Amino acid sequence: MAQKKLVEMGEWENPKNRLKYCRELEIGNILFFPQIPFSFPQQEIDFLLQQKQGSSKARKNIAYKPQLDKITNHDPKDPIGAQKIHDILRHYSKAVTQFLTQLLSPYAKEWKLDYASFRPFQEKGRKLRTRARNDLLHIDSFPTRPMHGMRILRFFTNINPQEPRTWLTSQPFEELAQQYGGEKGVPFPESPGYSQLDRLQKKLKLWLKQFGFKVPMRSPYDQFMLQLHHFLKENDYFQKNCPKDRWEFPPNSCWLVFTDQVSHAALSGQYALEQTLLIPQKALLQPERSPVAILERLSGKNMVDSELIQS
Ligand SMILES: [Fe+2]
Repeated sequence: MAQKKLVEMGEWENPKNRLKYCRELEIGNILFFPQIPFSFPQQEIDFLLQQKQGSSKARKNIAYKPQLDKITNHDPKDPIGAQKIHDILRHYSKAVTQFLTQLLSPYAKEWKLDYASFRPFQEKGRKLRTRARNDLLHIDSFPTRPMHGMRILRFFTNINPQEPRTWLTSQPFEELAQQYGGEKGVPFPESPGYSQLDRLQKKLKLWLKQFGFKVPMRSPYDQFMLQLHHFLKENDYFQKNCPKDRWEFPPNSCWLVFTDQVSHAALSGQYALEQTLLIPQKALLQPERSPVAILERLSGKNMVDSELIQS
């Protein structure tokens, strides 16, 4: 089960600690920062706190895509407000990345910067379909962004001035895959590229990609992770009976965790920010502890198609 590891202000400046934080994350712990470890102007926080629930399209979080410098799901009727949120998220994304470049220096050269998001909704009682619910324990897997074994690392900030963000965590990926992988619940997919259908599908996807069509090319690893995500959320017995730890992340605190490894649920809390980083296998200190390595050991199958990673 995950433990919360306190990171004191400025502790990361000591070069002795260079590997310490990556190690803690890779064994499945949560790094906890009692204060925001970089400058975040109060007027930016105040602006985000004024955002009303329901003002954004379809009650979705607002995402910032750093590679395109764009935001999604903003209110089209309020272009000035949208521009302001855009600026704040750009600033947050840069500040987190700069901070993590120092904290997690062994990863920094290899990681891929993914989306940041602003979560203005109260998680408690939020009406979402089962697979989209955040208050059910799960491991993260992105249906439209296959990982091919890359790790999902997420940095969260609770900007709510009064209310903590409450999480549950449960068993790590390895235990869940042992418990539910294969015939026990989530089938292990076949190694990639062996069936005729696989080969045909791959050809078609690579061909479409040449013409700029975005086709998510899921590896067997991605198929398993997505199925496990759904299986856990839809499994009432697991949700009720699995071992649980409850964590409260107070106002102005931050936390960092591999969410593809640590099963988690957000029970309550409103107004959080988050930045995702994707860490490739080659940057990990202990790649043998990663979900793809565990899955390949358990299934005896190859879970990633190297041709699809490059394409
Ligand atoms: Fe999650």
